[in-house]
Amino acid sequence: MYAQTRHQTSNAEEVEDSSSILSSSPPDKPKLIHGGNYIKEGRDSARSTCLIFSPKEEDEVGSLGKYLQLFVKHKVNLLHIESRSSLRQPNGYEFMVDCAPGGNIASVIECLRDQCSYFSIISRNHKDNMDTVPWFPRRIRDLDKFANQILSYGAELDSDHPGFTDPVYRQRRKYFADIAYHYKHGQPIPKVEYTPEEIATWSVVFRNLTKLYPKYACREHNHVFPLLIENCGYREDNIPQLEDISNFLKDCTGFTLRPVAGLLSSRDFLAGLAFRVFHSTQYIRHSSKPLYTPEPDVCHEILGHVPLFADPSFAQFSQVIGLASLGAPDEYIEKLATCFWFTVEYGICRQNGELKAYGAGLLSSFGELEYCLSDKPELRPFDPPKTALQKYPITEYQPVYYVAENFEDAKEKMTKFAQSIPRKFGVRYDAYTQSISIIDSKQQVEALVNNVNQEVQILMDALRKLHH
Ligand SMILES: [Fe+2]
Repeated sequence: MYAQTRHQTSNAEEVEDSSSILSSSPPDKPKLIHGGNYIKEGRDSARSTCLIFSPKEEDEVGSLGKYLQLFVKHKVNLLHIESRSSLRQPNGYEFMVDCAPGGNIASVIECLRDQCSYFSIISRNHKDNMDTVPWFPRRIRDLDKFANQILSYGAELDSDHPGFTDPVYRQRRKYFADIAYHYKHGQPIPKVEYTPEEIATWSVVFRNLTKLYPKYACREHNHVFPLLIENCGYREDNIPQLEDISNFLKDCTGFTLRPVAGLLSSRDFLAGLAFRVFHSTQYIRHSSKPLYTPEPDVCHEILGHVPLFADPSFAQFSQVIGLASLGAPDEYIEKLATCFWFTVEYGICRQNGELKAYGAGLLSSFGELEYCLSDKPELRPFDPPKTALQKYPITEYQPVYYVAENFEDAKEKMTKFAQSIPRKFGVRYDAYTQSISIIDSKQQVEALVNNVNQEVQILMDALRKLHH
C-alpha cells in the first residue's frame, strides 16, 4: 500500500539531468555559512561529486591551496571545501571537496590520484564510473540535500487518487510539500493548523484503529501508545504535531522526524535511517475515503511508525538497515528496501506464542491489520537473504508476511546480511558529531577497539556493582 521506498533508484538520476546547463555557467562563489563551512546551496549541490583526499605525509594543511589550483585549472566549481584532521594517518590532514557538475573533473581526479596518499570518490553518478562509491550523506545536515532529489512533488497526484479532482485538497498538498521542501536540519518542524475536515478524517482513522491495537498490535506498540497520548497530544479530536513527536522520540531513542516533500528514492530514504532520522509526511489522506490511502500520510506515520521508533531495539534494527545501505550497490539497495518492507512496513512478530503486528503498514490499515493475523495469508520466518528476494504488491493486501522472533533476533540477522554486501569500507554512526565515519584504515580500527574497550570497562564496573 505504501510506495515510499518502492521507487527505483535509477529514476533519481533522470530527474537530475535537466540541470546540466550549470556546467557552462560562470563559477559561483561559495559563501561562508554558520559553522565555518563554505557551501553553496541549490539544486546542483545534490548532484555533486565528493572527493576525499589526503596529501602525502610531508605536506601540511596549507597544501590545500595547491590542490585547489587543480580545480581552477580544470574549471571545476566547488560547493564545499573542508580540511580536517586525518583519521587514517597519524598527524596527517584530509580534505573533502564537493564539486559541482561540469568542468573537467576527470583530469582533476587523475592528478589527485597520483599525488595523494589517500583518495576516494563519492558520487551520485556512480553508474557512469564503477570506481566510485554511490553518494551518501555523511553529516546529518547533508539530509537537506534530499529535498532536491525527490522523485515526485507531494502535490502531484495520480488520476486514480481520491483527491485528484479536488482543487482545495491539491492546494493543501502543495502547502505541505512546500513546508517540507524548505525545511532545513536543526529547525523546528513547522506546526500545522489542521482544518476541521482534516481532523474529522483523522478521528475516523484514530477511533477505528485504536480499537484494534489491544488485540493485534505488538507489545512495544501498546506500551508506547499511552505515552504518546500523554506527551504528544494523540487524541481522537487532535492531529498530533510532528515537532512534538520528534522531540519525544529524540528523548526515547534519538530518532527524529523530518518532513518530506515527496517520494524519495529508496537509497535516500534508507540513508536517513542511518542517522536515526525518519522522513515523514505531514498531510492527511482525502476525506472521501478515511480508511484508505494509496500513499503514506500522517495517519500512517504517526499511528504506524512512530510508536515503534520509541523502542530501543526496534530503533537499532532500523538503523542497521540504514547503515547497510550507505554506499551499497543498487541491487543491494533494492534488497534492503525489500527487507524494510517486510519488517518496518509489514512485519509480524511472535510474542508469548501469539502473532502480533509491528509493521506500520499494518498498524495503520484498518482492514489489513485484521487480515494479516487471520489464517488467509502465508507466513514465513524472517530470513533476510530470502526475504530480500520476495516480490510484493504495493496497492493490495500482502499475500506473504515474514515473522520475526523478536527485534533483537531480527537485528542480528539483518547485521549478518549487511556484512554480505560488497563494500570496501565499514561504516559507523558517530552520535557525538552526528556523522558517518567511513572506516577503511588500521588507525580507525584501533580507535574503534579503544571505544569498545571503554564500553567493556563500563560493563565490567556495572556487573561488579550488580553482584554486590
Ligand atoms: Fe511507511
